[in-house]
Amino acid sequence: MELKNKHAVITGVSKGIGLALCKQLLDKGAIVFGLGRNCPAEIANPNFHFILCDIQMSESVQTAFTKIYQQVSEIHILVNNAGLGYFGNIEDLPEEQWHEMFNTNIHGMFYCIKQVLPQMKKSEFGHIINIASTAALEGMAQVSGYCATKWAVKGLSESIFREVRDFGIKVTCIYPGSTKTDFFRNSPGIKPHDYMLMPEDVASMMVQSLEMPNNFHSVNLEIRPLQPRGPKK
Ligand SMILES: NC(=O)c1ccc[n+]([C@@H]2O[C@H](COP(=O)([O-])OP(=O)(O)OC[C@H]3O[C@@H](n4cnc5c(N)ncnc54)[C@H](OP(=O)(O)O)[C@@H]3O)[C@@H](O)[C@H]2O)c1
Repeated sequence: MELKNKHAVITGVSKGIGLALCKQLLDKGAIVFGLGRNCPAEIANPNFHFILCDIQMSESVQTAFTKIYQQVSEIHILVNNAGLGYFGNIEDLPEEQWHEMFNTNIHGMFYCIKQVLPQMKKSEFGHIINIASTAALEGMAQVSGYCATKWAVKGLSESIFREVRDFGIKVTCIYPGSTKTDFFRNSPGIKPHDYMLMPEDVASMMVQSLEMPNNFHSVNLEIRPLQPRGPKK
């Protein structure tokens, strides 16, 4: 789709991939509603509207979308980006962390999708992008809880793709490899480095996917850094 003047909702915009995507969509002339717990201080664009929202909570999501629909009648793009990971052996993973990951990574996505689909079906137009991870494609030791949430994102995405395609609605699930963001703050063993993907790389793949012609779409996008340990000497 042509992005100029399109209405996009992105969850988790304070930093990382969500922030990079906000900037790229604003550069394309889109009107961006950023949902999150913290507003990014560095965006000063009249087309950016921050809406306070904790996506773990259904009422908070409902209130946020009510505010958006008071300003625009149609949402053309929803990017479910907000997410987090906790790591460690399964028996050591606190229940609160397990629930926070599921509440954020998958329940929050469900709440947001429910807010846009009736209107997208009516207008027979829209694109939903869900951010999974390569952790949705393979099991990983010490990553069980996070993997479980992202496998759920894969299942949700592939199912709704088949459910809504005949209504003219695109669904894309994106599977990024390690990306240099604050995501690894809860993973003491991994330090972000320059051979990871950059958040701007992941954002640009989403922009490319959004800009595809109306008659086809990318269903699954797996993106990995080319030389994750740096060039061979
Ligand atoms: N970095 C990677 O290696 C990588 C790889 C594959 C997939 N991913 C996925 O990519 C997405 C973005 O992650 P990132 O790497 O950009 O990490 P990040 O820098 O930690 O950013 C995560 C964003 O999600 C927001 N968020 C978390 N919980 C929220 C909640 N309850 N309500 C609203 N917003 C919330 C955070 O906002 P607050 O300021 O409120 O915390 C932040 O803006 C996540 O779904 C992650 O699982 C990341």
